[in-house]
Amino acid sequence: MAESLLIDANLSKEEKYKALLPQIEALTTGETDLIANISNLVAALRQGMGFFWVGVYFNKEGQLVLGPFQGPIACTRIPYHKGVCGACYTQQKTMLVPDVEAFPGHIACSSDSKSEIVLPAIVNGEVKLVLDVDSDKLNDFDEVDQKYLEQVMKLVESWY
Ligand code: SME
Repeated sequence: MAESLLIDANLSKEEKYKALLPQIEALTTGETDLIANISNLVAALRQGMGFFWVGVYFNKEGQLVLGPFQGPIACTRIPYHKGVCGACYTQQKTMLVPDVEAFPGHIACSSDSKSEIVLPAIVNGEVKLVLDVDSDKLNDFDEVDQKYLEQVMKLVESWY
């Protein structure tokens, strides 16, 4: 297992993702514990990409419940029909939100959060969890984030 991440801070965003993804795979290969892998995943994403907040909400107990995350403290429970995470759950697709204030029903866990991207991990047609990444800058996520974070979600799905 890799002991530390190697990501050059001067790389472009796409280059960072390209360098980070194999390291995340190496970090989680051979470990079968879901929470251990997700914990390292979110830590690696925060450290490698410099995200403001990154974490998961599990589909459990009829709602979305906070799991491992890195960043400021967050809301613990989100109803299926609420916020960006709820929209990701119900629509079973990536939600790219350039301005959270303009998203109907957005849940402001932190007033510093300005834009976000939320992606589902879907196994046998069921959303098992959503990965939420927040930025303190407007319009901070684009199709590059979507492309590589969707690859991350394929890895997460393989853990089930
Ligand atoms: N903003 C999210 C809630 C989760 S936090 O941002 C960590 C939403 O609207 O679903």
